[in-house]
Amino acid sequence: MSTAPPPARPVPPVSSVLIDDIGALVTNDTALGAGDLGEVAGAALVVESGRVAWCGPRSRAPAADVRVDAAGRCVMPGFVDSHSHIVFAGDRSREFGDRMSGRPYEAGGIRTTVAATRDASDAELLGNATRLLREARAQGTTTLEVKSGYGLSVADEERCLRAAARLTGEVTFLGAHVVPPEYEDDPDGYVDLVAGAMLEACAPHARWVDVFCERGAFDEEQARRVLRAGRDRGLLPRVHGNQLGRGPGVRLAVQEGAASVDHCTHLEDADVAALADSAAEGPATVATLLPGVDFSTRQPYPDARALLDAGARVALASDCNPGSCFTSSMALCIALAVREMRMTPEEAVRAATAGGAEALRRDDVGRLSVGARADIVLLEAPNPVYLAYRPGVPQVAAVWKDGELVAGRP
Ligand code: NIG
Ligand code: FE
Repeated sequence: MSTAPPPARPVPPVSSVLIDDIGALVTNDTALGAGDLGEVAGAALVVESGRVAWCGPRSRAPAADVRVDAAGRCVMPGFVDSHSHIVFAGDRSREFGDRMSGRPYEAGGIRTTVAATRDASDAELLGNATRLLREARAQGTTTLEVKSGYGLSVADEERCLRAAARLTGEVTFLGAHVVPPEYEDDPDGYVDLVAGAMLEACAPHARWVDVFCERGAFDEEQARRVLRAGRDRGLLPRVHGNQLGRGPGVRLAVQEGAASVDHCTHLEDADVAALADSAAEGPATVATLLPGVDFSTRQPYPDARALLDAGARVALASDCNPGSCFTSSMALCIALAVREMRMTPEEAVRAATAGGAEALRRDDVGRLSVGARADIVLLEAPNPVYLAYRPGVPQVAAVWKDGELVAGRP
């Protein structure tokens, strides 16, 4: 007699999921709900084929194959973290310790990580970056931009970008991070390399080109050369600027039509006006503020109020990196932006989601309305204000990316 089990009944594929009983749904679409976040109270949302198929008041929700109970909690778009440097090796915790004892932050510390990154294998680099990506995802980040910038040779920049491209579509070539030691006496020779052979090798793996335009890194003319070479090779520009002092970074970014200028810690009135004008004329150069950096380097915080009140577009990002800010927590950035930069909780949540999407020129993420990617965070909280209200407390219950549960449990 056969002992084989009876054939399993075929399980129908789940084609739609209803997230029901949402206390506050952040859509970031002001046509759909209240305030800057387009919030809908007592809401539901349907996911189909990795996209938002329906959202609105739960009393009108259509039927779906599976129901997830939000039990009155908040549902919001996943964080769009538009600035990170997670491909690296080595440890700079001692440098942080020294800084907290009074040593100032200097761009030159980057070279410590460059040495360790060059010594690391491809597998180590990918392993380190993968761990950080998962760490970020578990905290609600569903889109993460990742830069190179710790290789600074043709071969090392290329392998850093290959690792980044395994993790995200938002890959940035930052060969112009600092001048590596072997070019110390010939910085323009290094710019030739970045804009020439290095760009040739790296462009196929990247979407963006970035440059650190700052004293101790690259001046305006060098930075412009790198951005223009990148653009000629099909990459879109973004800029690190005005981090350590006033300078040409913002002006350069706006002139070159960069999607974003990041840091903006030290701005003049003319910089604020240029960013606001770019927003009025569109597409905007977004001011991406990185409060975790200012926190971890004991710098003043950027004047977010001046930017917002002038009409500039603002994003918040982590800048997760081993030197100036080793956090992947977008919730921390929101809390700092609210407490230290006088952003309202709603402005900060929007900047960390829709703002990041704008800084990456994406319209499929950073919002939860019909057609958007189903990149969703369920908070262990009734509304998004809690992100700033309960600093340091893990409040992400579950994370979906393209409709797939990737972290936590509803
Ligand atoms: O964005 N400013 C330049 N680059 C990084 C810091 C990198 C480092 O210190 O390793 C930043 O802050
Ligand atoms: Fe950075």
